[in-house]
Amino acid sequence: MVFPEYRPRRMRRNEAFRSMIRETHLSASQFIYPLFVMPGKNKREPIPSMPGVFRISIDQLAQEAKECLSLGINSVILFGLPEKKDAMGSGAHKGDGIIQRAIKELKNKAPELMVVTDVCLCEYTDHGHCGCIIDNDVDNDATLEILAKTALSHAKAGADMVAPSDMMDGRIAEIRAALDENNYESIPIMSYAVKYASSFYGPFRDAADCSPQFGDRRSYQMDPANSREAMREATLDVEEGADILMVKPAVAYLDIISKLRDEFDLPVAAYHVSGEYAMIKAAEEKGWIDGPRVMEETLLSIKRAGADIIITYFAKDMARRLRG
Ligand code: PBG
Repeated sequence: MVFPEYRPRRMRRNEAFRSMIRETHLSASQFIYPLFVMPGKNKREPIPSMPGVFRISIDQLAQEAKECLSLGINSVILFGLPEKKDAMGSGAHKGDGIIQRAIKELKNKAPELMVVTDVCLCEYTDHGHCGCIIDNDVDNDATLEILAKTALSHAKAGADMVAPSDMMDGRIAEIRAALDENNYESIPIMSYAVKYASSFYGPFRDAADCSPQFGDRRSYQMDPANSREAMREATLDVEEGADILMVKPAVAYLDIISKLRDEFDLPVAAYHVSGEYAMIKAAEEKGWIDGPRVMEETLLSIKRAGADIIITYFAKDMARRLRG
């Protein structure tokens, strides 16, 4: 069928036609909203490189939860700023640690909200790496035990799902075993399966105060140049028991999201990260782009590439836009 018999423009004539044939839809129920939790009371600190995002104290969580739920956002992912850091990141698995208290508060005040936790040590180590250091290197196997302890402490506090973001080898199996041994076999693992050593995490590291104090994360996070290796990482995580596979960042890695969607039958999540958010906000502030439209187009592209779930700082803004 060629012109003039077929005219694609016929179906673009008005919004009724356009919306009738629209292939991809965003839904607030598939967003996960990140929250940064800090010590203190009545705290709501703006994060300069992430306009509209705040570090909040535990007493502010109930309000956030209500706002999310009222917008149709059913889940949040928690990041913590501990009071103290040490070489082993022991604050990550303290029974009364910042995240453990935040989980309890949320489960207490808004039980219907799904609480996901980021399982990593970089916010808790004084050197800022995602594992413990032995002989000047992030030691993989020594870190596994601490990660499993951390995930277990989150489950004990009431977390609905854990999301390991450290990129140590074998951590999904270790965490799954620890959860199962302690009767948390029903708590799923959303694995940051394909996490690149990306410069798009800059604003997050300001927000969560977790920049490495020496070196960088390239010995454990993936090389941005690699795609076949992403499939290998995801395969390992599936074999080890992951329930959801995540790709991170999102927009610079849409090809990877699409490949994962084709190769695996698990739900795929994508993390639209801090730098991706900040760039849109900055260009909007300069008046160079229409921020809300670029936000929608960006999130649609992530969905179209194949992601089911999107972790995004735009969750509330986009949910409001969807409500018109
Ligand atoms: C912890 C972690 C990071 C992000 C999520 N979990 C930072 C990092 O790996 O350096 C980044 C999220 C974002 O940029 O929005 N390891």
